[in-house]
Amino acid sequence: MSTYKERGVMFPSDVVPRSNLELLKTFDIRDDDIMLITYPKAGTWWLHQVVKQILSEQGATCTAETFLGNMPNLIEFTVPGKGPLAELIKAAPSPRVLATHVPVEFLPPGLLGSNAKIVVLMRNPKDTAVSMFHFSQKVPELPTPESWDSFAQQFLAGDCPWGPFYDHVLGYWKLKDQHNILFLKYEDMKKDLPAEVKKLSSFLGKPLTDETVQTVVGATQFDSMKKNLGETKMAVGLKGGLWTRKGVVGDWKNNFSDDQSRAYDEQYRERLSNTGLEFQFE
Ligand code: A3P
Repeated sequence: MSTYKERGVMFPSDVVPRSNLELLKTFDIRDDDIMLITYPKAGTWWLHQVVKQILSEQGATCTAETFLGNMPNLIEFTVPGKGPLAELIKAAPSPRVLATHVPVEFLPPGLLGSNAKIVVLMRNPKDTAVSMFHFSQKVPELPTPESWDSFAQQFLAGDCPWGPFYDHVLGYWKLKDQHNILFLKYEDMKKDLPAEVKKLSSFLGKPLTDETVQTVVGATQFDSMKKNLGETKMAVGLKGGLWTRKGVVGDWKNNFSDDQSRAYDEQYRERLSNTGLEFQFE
């Protein structure tokens, strides 16, 4: 499987053909769009389900989802036999829930100046790397890692699909004072999902009662999602179960050697000190 680099960021050609990135440059954003942004494996699918539940509790629908079957609608993807999602989604009725993994410099240019609501979900780099390693072994469109050791090194060097982790998260973190962006963390969602659901629903302008928060939480907890997704086939030919593996904080401990852990810790300190951004690892 092939990859290419654009502005120093690696993309898998079969998932994000170069021409799809071009399409993002002219993708029109609407003020009532909701854009979900993640580095891959941060919990994109989970966030999408939570947002979908919040909207449905309020009687709205998540129309754009239709294009990729049950998959979160990543605007840079291509739907086999149909074409680039950024084209297909243009005519979708509002509200559109869009998702993307692209670094900030690849975003549709109108997004940051619009009133669209932007939710950025982040996850600690060690668990992200482990999750990506397992995922890459099962998805033929992604480069297959030779071993955990080689993948851990590539991830650390930023030589992996969607590029260097810290460039990605810090690129977005710089925008933290912008009114229409909410930052969430995977570890916070694991620790207290009701609190994060409340925060998110208020941000989306759809505050929920305590009772409806519980309904959303019930439908989006790991076990419920695993059961519901299970064998569901996505339009891209993959099974939904691929997106619900372990769903825990700290699985990195089952994979990292002491040396690997130290190298990741060092990079964490180098890149995040004095930024105000931090992650929980257990
Ligand atoms: P693991 O591989 O560590 O289990 P993405 O959707 O961005 O590809 O992220 C996938 C990761 O989110 C996987 O992590 C998956 O198990 C986890 N995940 C999916 N649904 C979840 C949920 N409801 N609760 C916790 N983690 C979830």
